[in-house]
Amino acid sequence: MEDTTQLLPILAVHFHNDLGLATANTLAGIYVGVRQVDVTINGIGERAGNASLEEIVMAIKCRGEEVLGGVYTGINTKHIFTTSNMISKIRKSTKNITDGILKNKGTYEFVSAEDVGFIRASEHGIRLGKLSGRHALKIKILELGYNFEEKQLEDLFWRFKSMAGRKKNITDDDLRALILDETIVPQIA
Ligand SMILES: *[C@@H]1O[C@H](CO)[C@@H](O)[C@H](O)[C@H]1NC(C)=O
Ligand SMILES: *[C@@H]1O[C@H](CO)[C@@H](O)[C@H](O)[C@H]1NC(C)=O
Ligand SMILES: *[C@@H]1O[C@H](CO)[C@@H](O)[C@H](O)[C@H]1NC(C)=O
Repeated sequence: MEDTTQLLPILAVHFHNDLGLATANTLAGIYVGVRQVDVTINGIGERAGNASLEEIVMAIKCRGEEVLGGVYTGINTKHIFTTSNMISKIRKSTKNITDGILKNKGTYEFVSAEDVGFIRASEHGIRLGKLSGRHALKIKILELGYNFEEKQLEDLFWRFKSMAGRKKNITDDDLRALILDETIVPQIA
């Protein structure tokens, strides 16, 4: 007999956030069987923005098992913070989930900043300054979610040294800015 399950269409949803409900509506869709959802990083999009990838991916990660019938995304959430910041640098974002998490821990009690790849420097002990060597820099950028080739690391190291000559303490944000200059060539149409 023919396997009719192969013939079932995959239902998709596509929401905008005009009423602040894009994430809620998308999750409601998944709840009733939708298996393709349109989302954008940082909720970038027309009108009040398209549904936010970060919010939906994290909601699925946190509640997919118990509330949404075991759905999952396969997305490595540790890269969300970096990706979101990278996109923000290119284009002003309308949403910033990490901002919400860091400023208002209580409202996001089941999503930690670490879940989306944000690492607090103070908890990790590595503080970079002008005496820091290549090894410290390499560990630090791994913590921030990057894995550079030797050549890239060497270029970054010299730019880091130059910054460290001007600035006593190099923060994670300073380092992210250096890394983004190194890796991103914005292509805005
Ligand atoms: C947002 O959705 C619109 C359609 O409603 C689509 O044309 C557009 O490409 C989407 N924006 C992004 C950034 O994907
Ligand atoms: C997002 O929030 C984080 C944490 O507050 C901040 O470091 C980052 O600069 C913010 N990004 C934007 C585009 O506002
Ligand atoms: C740099 O970091 C050290 C060690 O935490 C701190 O004592 C000092 O005040 C910082 N200096 C500046 C300029 O932020």
